[in-house]
Amino acid sequence: MGVTTQQLSRFKRDGRPIVVLTAWDFLMAQVLDRAGVDVILVGDSLAMVALGHETTLPLTLEDMLHHTKAVRRGVKNALVVCDLPFMTYQESVAQAMHSAGRVLKETGAQAVKLEGGHPAMLETVERLTQAGIPVMAHVGLTPQSVHQFGGFRKQGTTAEAAERILQEAIALESAGAFSIVLEHIPADLGLQISQKLTIPTIGIGAGPHCDGQVLVTPDLLGLSEWQPPFAKPYTNLRDIITQAVQTYAAEVREQRFGDSPGA
Ligand code: KIV
Ligand code: NA
Repeated sequence: MGVTTQQLSRFKRDGRPIVVLTAWDFLMAQVLDRAGVDVILVGDSLAMVALGHETTLPLTLEDMLHHTKAVRRGVKNALVVCDLPFMTYQESVAQAMHSAGRVLKETGAQAVKLEGGHPAMLETVERLTQAGIPVMAHVGLTPQSVHQFGGFRKQGTTAEAAERILQEAIALESAGAFSIVLEHIPADLGLQISQKLTIPTIGIGAGPHCDGQVLVTPDLLGLSEWQPPFAKPYTNLRDIITQAVQTYAAEVREQRFGDSPGA
């Protein structure tokens, strides 16, 4: 057995930060897993980053199952968490049970992630957890609510909003979530929530004091054309790939390709 949800709680108790990255295919999942990432999230950001949509809303459960199966085949050690797409869990507890059940049965992912901390979502988290399905929660900027927020805006910037997010996080822990993503909130709120909760917080644009951090992998690699302000590129794969492709194209056009030893 690779990384477990229990192990992530131990990491928090031991003060060992948790490394999370996203993947949506076999190849990247394999690279991340072999590089020692703790958790691989099949995030529904794939709707935007891999499929070219403007929001995460169009993604279907079938899309997600397809990508998560591919990711799972590439992973030996990391915990695989699958985002439930928009409107595959919000309608009712029964719908959430059905969707999450399909994820675990059909893909081999060990957990699901869902957005929001209002009362209906707390009931859903509780019922999924009772059914033996580990749930990662997600508060702050929850991209499936983009139209309600009026854009991908920072959340929790007023004292009132910060308090609401803190209370949601506490309630989600009580409902049984094993971990929680904090997205695009002030660093002091990220710290406050991380100190208050027993379960590990995973931050993205939530300051350095969360119990773990997640990035959308193409943002880390400098592959995306657009990056959120909190993303940190560690290399520039977009330029590196462009150069490799241009070198190849030049060799093909000059009829130099295919002539190399071993080809
Ligand atoms: O979809 C995603 O990639 C996510 C992470 C940014 C947390 O939800
Ligand atoms: Na997501």
